[in-house]
Amino acid sequence: MWLAKAKDSVKNIKVNTNQENGYKGIIECSNLSFSYESGMEILKDITFTTREGESVGIVGANGAGKSTLLRILVGLETTYSGEVLIDKIPVSRDTLAAVRAHAGYLFQDSDNQLFTQSVYQDVAFAPRNYGLGEEDVDKRVMEALNTMGITHLKDKQIYKMSGGEKKMASIATLLSMTPDILLFDEPSIALDPSNRRTLINVLNRLELTKLIASHDLDLILETCSRVILISEGGIVKEGPAEEILKDKKLLESNHLELPLCMQGYTPFKGGSGEN
Ligand SMILES: Nc1ncnc2c1ncn2[C@@H]1O[C@H](COP(=O)(O)OP(=O)(O)O)[C@@H](O)[C@H]1O
Ligand SMILES: [Mg+2]
Repeated sequence: MWLAKAKDSVKNIKVNTNQENGYKGIIECSNLSFSYESGMEILKDITFTTREGESVGIVGANGAGKSTLLRILVGLETTYSGEVLIDKIPVSRDTLAAVRAHAGYLFQDSDNQLFTQSVYQDVAFAPRNYGLGEEDVDKRVMEALNTMGITHLKDKQIYKMSGGEKKMASIATLLSMTPDILLFDEPSIALDPSNRRTLINVLNRLELTKLIASHDLDLILETCSRVILISEGGIVKEGPAEEILKDKKLLESNHLELPLCMQGYTPFKGGSGEN
């Protein structure tokens, strides 16, 4: 009930997306395997696809390979075997510019995302780099800040911002590229409850394809329709979020726990019981 309310209480945001090759929001991963230089196989034969506008949770214990998977999808690691297509573009060193016009990656640590003096400069950086004129850049920046509800932070210096503000600004740096796919790496980590709630609302309002890697299974349940569970670099199970996230045995055998809302967790005794 509370979940439906949270989803209904926000207005959806339609993002203008790149459509130049006719495809948008489609990730196709076939038989993807990957090792870092150390040689141990980190991802093993990963195959999945996403539909346009779908929101998919990637869950798994520490070290399962979630971040590595997201990094490969945006070309931060390119020495994989198998096939990875972003809107039909094969991800390789030669296609990085095109891939990143379609797909943005939200780093776990916002300090890896924000590297200039002010929010405006950071949000303007990628569109400027792609050769847009200043007028178009300004339009993109203001749209992205507006979408995130942070126009008031436009001139704020990064080092003076809170963790929650940095997370919102980091998402704006991705939106200014008008992506149709966003990849989120542990987006709620280090956020207080109020910032986490704002993030969940933002995620639910963004009408584009989302892949969200997180330990926060309550967040996954509230934002994703489908879940892919990975363990030791391989897909253990994928299916509807509500089915996988209520499977206590499956989660525990993969070093995870039921989401708190499914543990019958009631923080205040004597409350209404609705949480
Ligand atoms: N740059 C790297 N070099 C070598 N091994 C790495 C590197 N980054 C991650 N790993 C290893 O890859 C495995 C998967 O890590 P990661 O993708 O970060 O998992 P998760 O995000 O699920 O916690 C872990 O065993 C980790 O130690
Ligand atoms: Mg990780």
